[in-house]
Amino acid sequence: MIERVEQEIQRLVKEVGYEKAYELFEKLSGGKRLRARLIEKISGENEKSALLAAIVELIHAASLLHDDVIDDAELRRGKPSVNATEGSKVAVMLGDILYSKAFSELVEFDKTIAKTISSSVTALSVGEMLDVELAKSFNADEKKYMHMLYLKTATLIEAAAACAAMLSGKESKRYALFGKNLGLSFQIIDDILDITADEKTLGKPAMNDFTEGKVTLPYIYLFESLDDEAKAKLIKLHGKKLEPHEVEWIKTQMEKHGSIAKAYRYAQTLSEEAKKAVEDEAELVAILDKMLQRSY
Ligand code: IPE
Ligand code: IPE
Ligand code: MG
Ligand code: MG
Ligand code: MG
Repeated sequence: MIERVEQEIQRLVKEVGYEKAYELFEKLSGGKRLRARLIEKISGENEKSALLAAIVELIHAASLLHDDVIDDAELRRGKPSVNATEGSKVAVMLGDILYSKAFSELVEFDKTIAKTISSSVTALSVGEMLDVELAKSFNADEKKYMHMLYLKTATLIEAAAACAAMLSGKESKRYALFGKNLGLSFQIIDDILDITADEKTLGKPAMNDFTEGKVTLPYIYLFESLDDEAKAKLIKLHGKKLEPHEVEWIKTQMEKHGSIAKAYRYAQTLSEEAKKAVEDEAELVAILDKMLQRSY
């Protein structure tokens, strides 16, 4: 059934009517389609849910195009990123095309759905700005980090789940809570994978967050465990291109202090919260479990 969503995505991008945009988008195809799968599982397989899923995946793809410019990332979904091959200007504009196409398709839905999805994109964009803002110095504040993470990643998933519920007459509040906690957990795992996985498996740069100034949860936990001398050393490495021995030092310290394990436990707790919200609906629980165990 996800094929139906793929077809909808193709149709929408073709409808833009600009060959170059279509060609570039083709190179970007793929991804885990997590958001589309959630929508289908929640609202069932029908025309409307396929369109909503396609819209959300276009929004997500646009956010990644912009995100790779923001993060100076040269790899996406196992291929050179659009900003790497075409330059940032093209990546930004292609992102704009996808965003606006997605928004114009939202008129096919109820006002509440259109508003919920589009507002989540405002939140996502604010979250991306906060991420950049926080990266300017060493942010060791877990609360600030989690607030940013809610905005940049969880809001779109929260909105997608809530709207999928609305489409099928289910209680949207519960699914919003499910989506929110899943989204938070999902981004923590993404932040862990940046440290533990390799570029080939990830299909995007590894060990790039800290270099970009992003002090993600495992780094915050590590910082809290270190003595003053080691704290100063970690701060010195923040925001710079790391030498292999510096990467080694960070990983050894994280291992020693259990920083990754602590972040993972938090992701598990959030995932449990998500499960509670949907009262153990087997297919949604399976998505959650897969999400927690993923390697990319
Ligand atoms: C990447 O999202 C950005 C984050 C919110 C972590 P995904 O991990 O869902 O990316 P794709 O769509 O599978 O490539
Ligand atoms: C999530 O953050 C990006 C968006 C919500 C668009 P990341 O910057 O960690 O995403 P990746 O790791 O590049 O996919
Ligand atoms: Mg990024
Ligand atoms: Mg980013
Ligand atoms: Mg990441």
